[in-house]
Amino acid sequence: MRIILVGPPGAGKGTQAPNIQMKYGIAHLATGDMLRSQVARGTDLGKEAKQIMDQGGLVSDDIVAGMIRDEFLNNTACKNGFILDGFPRTVVQAEKLDELLKDLKLELNAVLELQVDDELLVRRITGRLVHPASGRSYHTEFNPPKVPMKDDVTGEPLVQRSDDNADALRKRLVTYHSQTTPVVDYFKKENKWHRIEAAQKPEEVWQQILEVLEKSS
Ligand code: AP5
Ligand code: ZN
Repeated sequence: MRIILVGPPGAGKGTQAPNIQMKYGIAHLATGDMLRSQVARGTDLGKEAKQIMDQGGLVSDDIVAGMIRDEFLNNTACKNGFILDGFPRTVVQAEKLDELLKDLKLELNAVLELQVDDELLVRRITGRLVHPASGRSYHTEFNPPKVPMKDDVTGEPLVQRSDDNADALRKRLVTYHSQTTPVVDYFKKENKWHRIEAAQKPEEVWQQILEVLEKSS
């Protein structure tokens, strides 16, 4: 199963991807998580990416496409399939993905667009808490951890992402609408595109995804 999850910041990509990963035993490839791991390790790429991410911009197409290419070639979990979360988000990235899939003779099963109005996204993003090591995310109101500010699985502290503030979010939304909407429009012309109503409760969003995927496998 090979899937693209696309949607604005806070749409629920990182919340739903682990459900799909577990159900189908496939790799979850999130370019945002990969970049945050570079930032945490203090690499040169991480230092450069942090500035861009905190300002709500996009890291270069070559860098992110290169990261995905490395995963396809070296991550054995990709043999069963993958969920792309946060990639492609420019037309150039979509073209690079196309080439890569052609080279590897792979086909996508489904593109799921998680749709939510911008107003609700602000509430989701400003209340989000994350466990940096695993990428698990919580919400102070909509999905609180069992123990305040602690990860349910490891008990380690939860933090707020440095780009989860009103200013950076506004810029991320502008970036999404200008750079990623054209990618979604491109996918819409294919019969693999499916709209998911993502303003509903997480379990309801998951049910919609499951219905689509059962028909796409
Ligand atoms: P990335 O990490 O991909 O961030 P994003 O696209 O802005 O998306 P988010 O992670 O904010 O949202 P999400 O959809 O995963 O929401 P979540 O499930 O956590 O990218 C970060 C940055 O890295 C970019 O801005 C860019 O700079 C760079 N980057 C990454 N990829 C790149 C690329 N390909 N090219 C160039 N640059 C790139 O949910 C959000 C909150 O809502 C959580 O608190 C959650 O608990 C809650 N929630 C989720 N679903 C529901 C629900 N149904 N009901 C109630 N609450 C919910
Ligand atoms: Zn995410």
